[in-house]
Amino acid sequence: MNQYNILLDPSKMPDAWYNIIPDLPVPFPPPLHPGTHQPVNPSDLAVLFPPGLIEQEASGQSMISIPGEIMDAYRLYRPTPLRRAFRLEKALGTPAKIFYKNESVSPSGSHKLNTAIAQAYYNKISGVNELTTETGAGQWGTALSIACAFFNMKCTVYMVRVSFEQKPYRRSLMQTYGARVVSSPSNETDFGKKILAEQPNTTGSLGIAISEAIEVAAKSGGKKKYSLGSVLNHVLLHQTIIGQEAKLQMESVGEYPDVVIGCCGGGSNFAGISFPFAKDKLRNGKKIDFIGVEPAACPTLTRGLFAYDFGDTGMMTPLLKQYTLGHNFVPAGIHAGGLRYHGIATLLAVLVREKVMRAVACLQNPCFEAAVTFARAEGIIPAPETAHAIRIAIDEALKCKESGEKKTILFNLSGHGHFDMTAYDAYFSGKLEDIVLEQSVIDAAEQCIPKVAN
Ligand SMILES: Cc1ncc(COP(=O)(O)O)c(C=O)c1O
Repeated sequence: MNQYNILLDPSKMPDAWYNIIPDLPVPFPPPLHPGTHQPVNPSDLAVLFPPGLIEQEASGQSMISIPGEIMDAYRLYRPTPLRRAFRLEKALGTPAKIFYKNESVSPSGSHKLNTAIAQAYYNKISGVNELTTETGAGQWGTALSIACAFFNMKCTVYMVRVSFEQKPYRRSLMQTYGARVVSSPSNETDFGKKILAEQPNTTGSLGIAISEAIEVAAKSGGKKKYSLGSVLNHVLLHQTIIGQEAKLQMESVGEYPDVVIGCCGGGSNFAGISFPFAKDKLRNGKKIDFIGVEPAACPTLTRGLFAYDFGDTGMMTPLLKQYTLGHNFVPAGIHAGGLRYHGIATLLAVLVREKVMRAVACLQNPCFEAAVTFARAEGIIPAPETAHAIRIAIDEALKCKESGEKKTILFNLSGHGHFDMTAYDAYFSGKLEDIVLEQSVIDAAEQCIPKVAN
């Protein structure tokens, strides 16, 4: 009998998040104040974030307890299933074993709810009742809308224009949960107005939408705080519930991965699945190949510059050490909206720099081809972002077919694609462009990156 679903008993759901900072091979490069280039003080962050999250951002503790109210909300959909992809293995004719963690079963349809719940909770207990945020594909905005509904908070979502237009039902979904959704760039902020005046036909970008959401929170006199769906340490921390569960589930069937794969926008779902396994590599030298997958149109980890840069286009965030294509880079309007980000989480940048992990870049059409193969074998329609991870999982499995190796491959199914069918339509009608970023754009990025001594 094939055991497709490897379920974790709810009583075994991990009750602490794993913080990788103490296990890093080099000291964590701190965020810097853009004016002084000195490490930011926690008080510098207080205008945007509540104390609980600021504490987690700089914590040196290995495990951080998950408060009971968050555990309770997690229990709505966690532990999520780990699936052995027997049908995909058969379709590919590979001797490899393929496993995936199915984060698409959350009510929001992706992993993003794991941090949305935590962020709404820490804001609520600090007395904040309204959050602002950005969203690319709409997955993050949906997750935060749900979390705000759970904690009876207001939510405003600045949605990148290209996705706002491509995905009308994502908007309706967020509205159903009570959020206000605004196409970004918008006329609601000074930064949005500036961009609209300069580039009226812009597709928008995550970097621009982040600036708008930050501006609104920063000017609210403490009434509104800002919530980020990826990149920051506390966001990656919250996602480690994924990998910790996956580890217990794999252990329960006597398995351990040789390869761990996730797609990379800001880096949170890849960090979530990989960090608990990376702990074994960092502490005990366990041999595991970690592969982050990004679009060739927005190749941050594979071709970006390792430097301090802003997290947003409007230069409102602290400077973050990362791989970057330049904070004013506007990626092509590819359908994996959640991967259209100029930078990457510092934690992942450091791990790639130190060769603990590696990254590869993929074109759109091969990703959709992989997504369709996966959907026909496993029944789940993946988000275009997730399709990037699936492409490389399939490629790794096909390499095993060639070599006869029986590797165990684990990837994160970060979300479903039920609201991305225009992208699938475009793929089926041959309208998807395969875009590789031109080197001249990357060279130009060097000019806009702040000059920081260290
Ligand atoms: C389904 C899905 N996967 C992945 C991502 C990429 O984000 P991250 O790298 O933070 O996981 C997104 C972002 O919106 C997403 O919606």
